[in-house]
Amino acid sequence: MSTTDAVTFWDDLYAARPAAGDPQPNARLTETVEGLPPGDALDLGCGDGGDALWLAGQGWRVTAADISAVAVERLTDLARSRGLGDRVIAQRHDLHESFPRGGFDLICAHYLHTPFDLDRATVLRSAAHALRRGGRLLVVDHGSAAPWSWNQGPDVRYPSPREVAAGIDLDPATWTVERADAPRRIATGPGGRTAEVTDHVLLIRRTA
Ligand SMILES: C[S@@+](CC[C@H](N)C(=O)[O-])C[C@H]1O[C@@H](n2cnc3c(N)ncnc32)[C@H](O)[C@@H]1O
Repeated sequence: MSTTDAVTFWDDLYAARPAAGDPQPNARLTETVEGLPPGDALDLGCGDGGDALWLAGQGWRVTAADISAVAVERLTDLARSRGLGDRVIAQRHDLHESFPRGGFDLICAHYLHTPFDLDRATVLRSAAHALRRGGRLLVVDHGSAAPWSWNQGPDVRYPSPREVAAGIDLDPATWTVERADAPRRIATGPGGRTAEVTDHVLLIRRTA
């Protein structure tokens, strides 16, 4: 499947629903970042922008990237309307083809899953290299499918955080795994429906 298919898929998904007025941050982000000094952050596959807006509100300068121009434009408008336009730069990137420039203290990728070709190991390796010394890469993946997810195939496999780390294949002299676990949480879906889901959480720190 082509990049055009992926762009159309994600643009259509966002365009089919009203812009989120108050997107919320992901729980794994808030629990990880609480207490860290603000710096430069990068959000990969930012979607509605709940994570980027929350980080900006905590004093971070945020670059937020997504393949969907609809998502990027909506986040730009929302950040401006909240007076955070100078702290959130939303950029359209197909991470299969391009990666945001710069060095970062925090890079997060929450549920960066897609039914199209995306070499996540290469994207996450680029992210690890884009960290400044002391910076952290937080990768949060689905460890189970919520009943409302598009990703319901019977053959869907959820690589463990350790498997994701092995795929990124980083030199332990420069990067260290700080967290690799599979916590559960109650997720809220369309119409306020709730279900228990599993997250696969990987936190890597650049030490040199
Ligand atoms: C499941 S959503 C997660 C959104 C957001 N991080 C969150 O936690 O709600 C996956 C996001 O990745 C984006 N995405 C998918 N493929 C991408 C690609 N190749 N490059 C950049 N973004 C992509 C989608 O547009 C979508 O916003």
